[in-house]
Amino acid sequence: MLSKRLGGIEESATIKMGHLAKQLEDEGKEVLNFSLGEPDFKTPSHICDAAKKALDLGYTHYTSSAGITELREAIATKLRKENKVEVNADDVIVTPGGKQAIYEVMMSLLDEGDEVLLLDPAWVSFEAVIKIAGGRPRWVKRLEERVNYRALESAVSKKTKMIVMNSPNNPVGYVLSENELQEIAELAREHNLFVLSDEIYEKIIYERNHVSIASLDGMQERTILINGFSKTYAMTGWRIGYAAAPAEILRGMLRIQQHSVTCASSISQYAALAGLVNSQDCVKEMVAEFKKRRDVIVSRLNGIGLPCLNPEGAFYVFANTARYGNGVEFTERLLKEAFIIVTPGSAFGDAGTDYVRFSYATSMQKIIEGMDRIEEMLS
Ligand SMILES: Cc1ncc(COP(=O)(O)O)c(C=O)c1O
Repeated sequence: MLSKRLGGIEESATIKMGHLAKQLEDEGKEVLNFSLGEPDFKTPSHICDAAKKALDLGYTHYTSSAGITELREAIATKLRKENKVEVNADDVIVTPGGKQAIYEVMMSLLDEGDEVLLLDPAWVSFEAVIKIAGGRPRWVKRLEERVNYRALESAVSKKTKMIVMNSPNNPVGYVLSENELQEIAELAREHNLFVLSDEIYEKIIYERNHVSIASLDGMQERTILINGFSKTYAMTGWRIGYAAAPAEILRGMLRIQQHSVTCASSISQYAALAGLVNSQDCVKEMVAEFKKRRDVIVSRLNGIGLPCLNPEGAFYVFANTARYGNGVEFTERLLKEAFIIVTPGSAFGDAGTDYVRFSYATSMQKIIEGMDRIEEMLS
């Protein structure tokens, strides 16, 4: 009954785990959910106030499909100042979440059989969206090394159209340095590839500075920069993301947006604007809290035989379960014996087979309780 297009496309593993947690909670179990990719903080009050004001002012209708001018201007200013990407409001489109922007990119650029390089492991939806758009993911393993130019280059074929990158990264938490980005940029220039740069965790960063690949020489003309408000401002439910891209690509994306969702929510756009133009102290406070949690969860996981790298950004830890079985087996065991929900690493690609992903976007108290339960389970 379903279209061929959906063949081989699974339900989102992270969303599935979320549903499972809810089901167990409804049965009265004390579930600890480490699978959610959303900050547990409330959306800052000045952002909520701006939404209330937008309602009172009657900004409750369709907006321009590309988004309200004030927000696109504020985003363009941010991109110029912070990311050194030379854009103006016309180079930006506001979307209902970063996910929709990624979907529009794939639908605009990919023809049947076009190949897209994905660094394994990668966020769950990239592969699905590439396939929905008729493209073919080409996985390149990169877990233990940072960027392997040769491995990437050997995966390039005549059909390769794009490389997808995501730094700060979900699920591993690495942040690519300028040198590493230069390698990807060189590959893209050499083989005439587009780069989809998902920078949604840009502000959730502990160790390095974020550099946008679009700011490197000759890269803006081939980069589609994706970002959004879900993670930075704890606004997952408001559904606001954006893309900055070369004019022709943006026009394609806009056509899809016009014929599918029309525009992002008007009220959410005013809320997002308030987030961007006011003090960023709320972001600093959230990141400081994430950092404390990261330090605790990383040290506890390493201590109980689930080795993991120290994430430099985002709010996930990718822990190796090899001592106790593969990631899927370990996920099931955690669920049955400790009522703990994580995401098996294989959901992010083959490189994650012996891993599970913990999200630490949950309270310190739950992190400590969760680590205690796992320690007990393994002892
Ligand atoms: C890497 C990555 N990109 C994009 C998104 C989409 O975020 P949103 O659609 O809420 O903006 C997520 C959300 O989990 C993500 O982890």
